[in-house]
Amino acid sequence: MKAARIHQRDGEGLVYEDAPAPVHVTGDVVVEVRAASFVPDELNWPGTWVDRAGKDRTPSIPAHEVAGVVSEVHYGTTGFAVGDRVFGLTDWHRDGAAAEFVAVEARNLALLPAALDFTSAAALPLAGLTAWQGLFVHGGLQAGQRVVIHGAGGGTGLLAVQLAHDAGAHVIATGRAKAATIANESGACRFVDLEHDRLEDIEDVDLVFDTIGGDILARSAGLLRPGGALVSITAPPPVAPADGRTAFFIVEPNHEQLVELAQRAEAGRIRPHVGAVFPLADAARAFATKRGTLGKVVLQP
Ligand SMILES: NC(=O)c1ccc[n+]([C@@H]2O[C@H](COP(=O)([O-])OP(=O)(O)OC[C@H]3O[C@@H](n4cnc5c(N)ncnc54)[C@H](OP(=O)(O)O)[C@@H]3O)[C@@H](O)[C@H]2O)c1
Repeated sequence: MKAARIHQRDGEGLVYEDAPAPVHVTGDVVVEVRAASFVPDELNWPGTWVDRAGKDRTPSIPAHEVAGVVSEVHYGTTGFAVGDRVFGLTDWHRDGAAAEFVAVEARNLALLPAALDFTSAAALPLAGLTAWQGLFVHGGLQAGQRVVIHGAGGGTGLLAVQLAHDAGAHVIATGRAKAATIANESGACRFVDLEHDRLEDIEDVDLVFDTIGGDILARSAGLLRPGGALVSITAPPPVAPADGRTAFFIVEPNHEQLVELAQRAEAGRIRPHVGAVFPLADAARAFATKRGTLGKVVLQP
């Protein structure tokens, strides 16, 4: 099959080339990839370079969000048949979906509703699950609460704005100025331009969900009301709120949450934003272009 693979950390980057068919294990299905997506900095993650035993696994295939059609069902799988349209998240320590085929644990997939196209579906798993877990599992967001979402023009941020709005929260979105329009259209009541407005003018919020990190994360504890929560996906918050709690988490695959996301997308309550689409052969350019692109970038074999 064709795939985009990375060989060495300081090598030539992603190479579009022939690769062996995916290695499947018990509990896997093989998916014929129709669309795939990725996180801009995933080439720096340990799972790109080593397997779970710490052994070098290069050349490796990135992009852990997949939408496609089941082409093989292996021993120990239930709930899927050859020909099913599916979407989901692939394991960080195994080859991803920047390829014509990918082996995925069946439990990390969900059926794709007929109303959702493959390109939109590929933009949903990682961003959607991360936003869901950040807002509702770690953040405990409730209807009527005030939430700040940092990085609202990004893949995770845009879905977080939509999910929080859909849940009845009052959403304050932040990011660069170019994200203001889409954040407001996605359900934000207010947009704070982090390059020109004062972050500290926001106050008394129940939850801050940060997808940026660094200085923005460090300055965010002061935005909370007493008892509020600061949830980060980039690093543990360096400053804790005086009277509140912090959380840093790594997203986990979750079949039930994928189903919830698909139902909301099918009903038009959330809409993954695809800022750019590239053929798989242009994967290197797609990774290089992600910064500055609103929403997600999608690859198509
Ligand atoms: N812990 C986890 O499980 C988990 C899961 C998913 C992602 N992540 C991490 O979370 C981060 C966000 O992921 P993502 O996929 O949502 O990335 P993304 O699509 O690039 O979103 C980040 C957004 O924040 C904006 N931004 C970055 N720095 C900014 C600044 N200083 N001021 C204003 N806006 C700024 C970006 O704008 P520009 O594009 O213009 O820079 C972009 O709109 C990444 O570091 C990723 O590795 C962690």
